[in-house]
Amino acid sequence: MCGIIGFTGQTEAKNVLLEGLEALEYRGYDSAGIACFNNDVIDTIKTTGKVSSLRKKVVAMPEFHSTCGIGHTRWATHGGVSDTNSHPHTFGKVTLIHNGIIENYHELETKLAAEGKFPVSQTDTEIAVMLIDYLYHGNPMETLKKAMDYLEGTYAFCILFKDRPGVIYCLRNGSPLVACHCEEGSVIASDMVALIKYSKEYFVLPEQHIAVLTKDQITVFDAKDKVVMPKMLYVNWDMSAAMKGGYPHFMLKEIYEQPEALRSTIMPRIAKGNLPDLTNDGLPHTILDSVNRIIITACGTAMHAGLIGRVMFERLLRIPVTVEIASEFRYQKPIIDSNTLVITISQSGETADTLAALRLAKSGHAKTLSIVNVKGSSIARESDYVMYTHAGPEIAVASTKAYTAQLSCLYLLAFDFALEKGRLSEEDCSKEMEGLLQIIPAIEKTLTFHPLAKEISRNIKDCEDLFFIGRGLDYALSCEGSIKLKEISYIHSEAYAAGELKHGTLSLVTEGTPVIAVATQSSVYSKMISNIREVRARGAMVILITNGNNTVDSSLYDYHVPLPYLSDNFAPFTAAVVLQMLAYYTSVQRGLDVDQPRNLAKSVTVE
Ligand code: AGP
Repeated sequence: MCGIIGFTGQTEAKNVLLEGLEALEYRGYDSAGIACFNNDVIDTIKTTGKVSSLRKKVVAMPEFHSTCGIGHTRWATHGGVSDTNSHPHTFGKVTLIHNGIIENYHELETKLAAEGKFPVSQTDTEIAVMLIDYLYHGNPMETLKKAMDYLEGTYAFCILFKDRPGVIYCLRNGSPLVACHCEEGSVIASDMVALIKYSKEYFVLPEQHIAVLTKDQITVFDAKDKVVMPKMLYVNWDMSAAMKGGYPHFMLKEIYEQPEALRSTIMPRIAKGNLPDLTNDGLPHTILDSVNRIIITACGTAMHAGLIGRVMFERLLRIPVTVEIASEFRYQKPIIDSNTLVITISQSGETADTLAALRLAKSGHAKTLSIVNVKGSSIARESDYVMYTHAGPEIAVASTKAYTAQLSCLYLLAFDFALEKGRLSEEDCSKEMEGLLQIIPAIEKTLTFHPLAKEISRNIKDCEDLFFIGRGLDYALSCEGSIKLKEISYIHSEAYAAGELKHGTLSLVTEGTPVIAVATQSSVYSKMISNIREVRARGAMVILITNGNNTVDSSLYDYHVPLPYLSDNFAPFTAAVVLQMLAYYTSVQRGLDVDQPRNLAKSVTVE
């Protein structure tokens, strides 16, 4: 939710800022803007629309030169999409950009109004800049410490004080900020993708800390004004990982990166004898001792990965597992204690509701384990244990490779726990691991089905409603298929447990309604076929996905996607890839913005 970047150094700031904003645009694309020092004046250029519109405006001003500035790409929360509501915001001597939400902005606005100060925009951010200006009497550090006492909510700020040319002050509470010092100068941003061009080494600005960026160095202060040395982190991917690399969209590239993402996630976790080995993740063998229930909590696609994880855990461990939507879990007064293991799943590691759910779990003394893609992110740092998915940067708003990498971690956990608890013998565990490894070539094969996926997409692109049906693991996967299609094609769809259709929803199935039937599970296959007959009898256009080339009565379907055969437990991996391709090509055929769908953003750091 909003991408921010600050640069001060030796080179042209506008180039660093614009390139950084292009890399961060997946975080929000309602409007964009930059503000740069021009000697002791701060010049601001902002516009609604994407960074490309901002770039045009900047290019049209060749006289705009600076070596210090800040940039923002917005996902609107408070106040509509307009030039006035775009960042940076300026009041008096202060110009700033913000990622997060100031929850008490209304109260602060009333206080400031009493002082005769009124905003021009409808944003919470403008209230923050007014407050900081009001508190500012020449000492930025003092001012920011005081501002922290007033501000409630989440924020990452990059701030320019008019009388401090060349210096950027940054402040963080809840929203992420990462920084590095490099040859060109000092850079700070919401995400490493904007820094990778300059350095592979970086640090995460700790919560409630202030960073002061000059061209020569970055100094970090804690709330008591003490200088601290944050822990340096290192990324093992490079610029090319954060670029399209010849693909028309990031989403397609990320779909194709799945074999590699799975290899990187699974291979380092295999020990001799083909058994799972999570020692490098720091997971103690005793983690399940005394655990009598597992709660998986996450949002969106990550939550859908949890639905699959639940089936695997319950099958193998016989421990009750529930999957909770994080935004619900945190307000439900859930029953948790020291015998509960809470697993949070998040690609970004910054999703506000998932982070709040994790904090709630900790306050209830649960053991916490997170499955996270972004190193050093808040969820990773705050969990007792973390297992990283090594999927590399995921830029498209629609999650693909992170999802299958999350599944692979859940499977590794399930196998490891089952082995530890004596629920799987070494021999059986090794067979399961063999099955997990087979998903990689099977996904490679599935990717060759793209012409079929394209053809099916051509036939569903104009529909208004679509249903995904499945049973067991296939139902859990259908939920993911549905969100994927909805978010990038804007076609309404629903995922239904196939046996549940006849209890109401079947009335929506009429002549030509597309139904994607995921039928990979042998134990319920014949039941699925009966359910498919039910929708077929109402005239549904059926797209049937099976595990292997089962003999099916061809009158039952319009399209048949026979996945490379895998044992039942592993079919969600290949089926997921087909559903991703269907969503992708449908969005492309509808001429939509695949990577940056309307109203959405990649990293949801608001509640
Ligand atoms: C998936 O395609 C989404 N765009 C979305 O549901 C996402 O999975 C969700 O917001 C959770 O994000 P996280 O994994 O970064 O926590």
